Amino acid sequence: MFLVTGATGGIGRRVVRLLREQETPVRAFVRLTSDYGQLEHRKAEIFIGDLRHEKDIQKACQGVQYIISAHGSDGDALALDYRANIELIDHAKAVGVQHFVFISVLGAERGYEDAPTFKAKRAVEQYLQVSGLNYTILRPAGLSSNLLPLAERFRETRTYLLIGDHKNRTSIVSTDDLARITVSSVTTPAAQNQILPVGGPEILQRQDIPRILGRIFNQEPIIINPPLFLVDGVRSAVGLLNSQAQKALGTFRTLLANEFFCTPDEISHLESIFNFKLEPLESFLRRYLAV
Ligand SMILES: NC(=O)c1ccc[n+]([C@@H]2O[C@H](COP(=O)([O-])OP(=O)(O)OC[C@H]3O[C@@H](n4cnc5c(N)ncnc54)[C@H](OP(=O)(O)O)[C@@H]3O)[C@@H](O)[C@H]2O)c1
Repeated sequence: MFLVTGATGGIGRRVVRLLREQETPVRAFVRLTSDYGQLEHRKAEIFIGDLRHEKDIQKACQGVQYIISAHGSDGDALALDYRANIELIDHAKAVGVQHFVFISVLGAERGYEDAPTFKAKRAVEQYLQVSGLNYTILRPAGLSSNLLPLAERFRETRTYLLIGDHKNRTSIVSTDDLARITVSSVTTPAAQNQILPVGGPEILQRQDIPRILGRIFNQEPIIINPPLFLVDGVRSAVGLLNSQAQKALGTFRTLLANEFFCTPDEISHLESIFNFKLEPLESFLRRYLAV
């Protein structure tokens, strides 16, 4: 039995689909408010709970051999990126889980002080590495599925909002490829007890994204490119009302201000151990946008 957290999210939903296509038993950890009908339809076992509650985590881990931690933080890095994962690891040990796959983030080791999610991910990575569990830590770059709503807006308005340096490099990974790597990690010997950066096959500049959308829709893009200090202004204003939201914006700012890409060697390594070719961004978008 696999336990998948974040089972209704961009990665988790695809992980559950892949596992169910192989007829593997899956317990999907969802909230009562989550949109989990599709998971039920795929005959995943639905576990309703909240990752903020350790009792729910403990219950969800009963009888499980594999755990895939793919939940998001909902703006609360301490409770969800950090504490929920530590508790998942502790209960995984208690029930003798055979393999734990943790979705971290590219750059987790860089020590960004102002980015709670990055700090939490690194602390969880370190905890997992010394836990005695078999593990795979995946550090993805940006996910291609995040771009689908932006692509739909582009289709209607030709506009693309690009905050900060348009030349920053990124290697956006197909969310389908990441899900495939996540599931295969459990059975791939070269992924055992490894930390693997996961990106797409090409290093793009952020300005390439509206250009790709322009090609797909055959439209000249209108790029709106406000400077990064606009985010700083918004953060200061938000901080007056809500300090947690201000901290979460620190992670967002870090993502905008820095480069997140994999080297060609890292990508070849990934393709060779998982034995498939990673999909370029344009191909992913064309598949989903049906153009
Ligand atoms: N998106 C990216 O570009 C990116 C890049 C690198 C790494 N990552 C990492 O990849 C992981 C998955 O990202 P994603 O984009 O696939 O996530 P996502 O689409 O934002 O989904 C987040 C998931 O977490 C669940 N969740 C949030 N709070 C919860 C709680 N209190 N209890 C139970 N479930 C809860 C959500 O449930 P609901 O459906 O109920 O909201 C949802 O299923 C995250 O750890 C993220 O840090 C993401």
